[in-house]
Amino acid sequence: MRFTEATEKRRTFGIISHPDAGKTTLTEKLLLFGGAIQTAGAVKNNKIKKSATSDFMEIEKQRGISVATSVMAFAYNGKQINILDTPGHKDFAEDTFRTLTAVDSVILVIDCANGVEAQTERLMEVCRMRKTPVIIFINKMDRDGKEAFDLLDELEAKLSIKVRPLTWPIGMGDRFQGVYNIYQQSLNLFSANKTKIAEDVVSIADTSDPALDQIIGEAPATELREELDMIEGVYDAFDRNTYLSGDVAPVFFGSAVNNFGVKELLDTFCEISPSPQGRESDTRVVNPEDERFSGFVFKIHANLDPKHRDRIAFLRIVSGRFERNKFYHHVRLGKDMKFPNPTSFMAQDKSVIDDAYPGDVIGLYDTGSFKIGDTLTTGEKMLFKGIPSFSPEIFQELENLDPLKSKQLEKGIRQLIDEGVAQLFIQQPGNRKIVGTVGQLQFEVINYRLIHEYGANCRFVPRNYFKACWITSTNPEQLANFQRAKSNYLALDKDENLVFLAETPFLLQMAEQDYPDLTFHQTSAFKLEA
Ligand code: G4P
Repeated sequence: MRFTEATEKRRTFGIISHPDAGKTTLTEKLLLFGGAIQTAGAVKNNKIKKSATSDFMEIEKQRGISVATSVMAFAYNGKQINILDTPGHKDFAEDTFRTLTAVDSVILVIDCANGVEAQTERLMEVCRMRKTPVIIFINKMDRDGKEAFDLLDELEAKLSIKVRPLTWPIGMGDRFQGVYNIYQQSLNLFSANKTKIAEDVVSIADTSDPALDQIIGEAPATELREELDMIEGVYDAFDRNTYLSGDVAPVFFGSAVNNFGVKELLDTFCEISPSPQGRESDTRVVNPEDERFSGFVFKIHANLDPKHRDRIAFLRIVSGRFERNKFYHHVRLGKDMKFPNPTSFMAQDKSVIDDAYPGDVIGLYDTGSFKIGDTLTTGEKMLFKGIPSFSPEIFQELENLDPLKSKQLEKGIRQLIDEGVAQLFIQQPGNRKIVGTVGQLQFEVINYRLIHEYGANCRFVPRNYFKACWITSTNPEQLANFQRAKSNYLALDKDENLVFLAETPFLLQMAEQDYPDLTFHQTSAFKLEA
């Protein structure tokens, strides 16, 4: 296949949602449509179960299983679709943020009864920052939820994005009759059915057609006509470019568990979603049409099973064709490496591949050469712009309990940080190690792994910080004053960037007031924020 053709047909995206909105169910239905799985339940079994929150080994076991479904590839309507899985569990939010750097677009699932929930807001912040195109799927229309117009208002207000409905629900809950497809002028009639794939679609020449009253009843038909008029009055006509620029999110309504509205979503996705996009490196913008291979590592999965101590680095291909057993340049290490067993991920199976194209994600077996953010090229010395870190929520100081094992501890914690398990901030004097995470679980993971994999003995002492803020300044003198005054609250991150560890929102606000020429960023991607 020609290189450009192979690239053009790829669609790499992530599905994001607040836990329980229906991400797993929707993923599964998309895979069923794509023929990648034959039975429902295949994806579901890999889901990190809510009940297991206190047992991280159980979660790790499940995460282990879910490596195979980290990327799910299938062909549909002439497109090669790669779904990148994002962990729903809140403690793994950082994993999700990083995965979002490897996708070209996103489908956001919203529960029609709960509307926009906390985790959705944070995930959308990342999409906005990166201008990622988003399609919204409002799920569970077979249940009573908020009014459709209220939901759209809430989406716009809380997610700071404009929306444009492309389908419109007729009733909801017990009265849910289906959706009207605004663009195809067709009715898609709902029947609760968890297994069927075909949908019951009726074309309507225009909404004044009396057939509409016969099919859905007079009152609902009148209501639908009024609502459609309102939509035309309130929302601009859909324009693909405003979607691609991340300014407007098209909205669909449906019920994933009933397989309803999913086909429309997938068909429209194939039509409008972006093909693989370029990425910025420190020297140039790299376009997918560029035939020189390049890619970056956005995720590393370590196997906790002591019998299989391998790691898999997930590499997103940005440009060129990747070939098995060919030498590529690991830019950070300045070393050429080849990969005899690169894998692709096809739903439940991992298989060795001979080549891969821009937009694809491949798994590289790793014995410790990779860190998150590493770049591979055909020899060019360039690094893809950093994968952002977000301020952790929980901070604890790592204390060594066995001075004879300090080397092991040092090596272990550095490797875990490279894998992205947590963030590390070094404080002076004394080289104190402050570990920051999104959830409590990570501390258990780190402790366990330091003991079992590195033979280190340590403990964590809680530190009462509210946020870690990366600092930039337009005034060197003010920065020097700040550093003198706040030396006890300053640290360096893994890339030696200066970070302010603020104890309370009030103290952060005070620092902002007292040092107006300094900017305090809650993400390390401050260059992207501008
Ligand atoms: P998540 O990955 O976003 O966390 O959500 P998931 O798909 O697991 O869905 C959460 C729950 O919502 C599941 O129920 C699922 O069956 C249900 N669900 C998904 N889509 C719909 C829908 O369109 N309508 C309705 N009524 N429910 C939906 P559960 O009880 O947690 O699991 P299960 O026992 O049904 O598997």
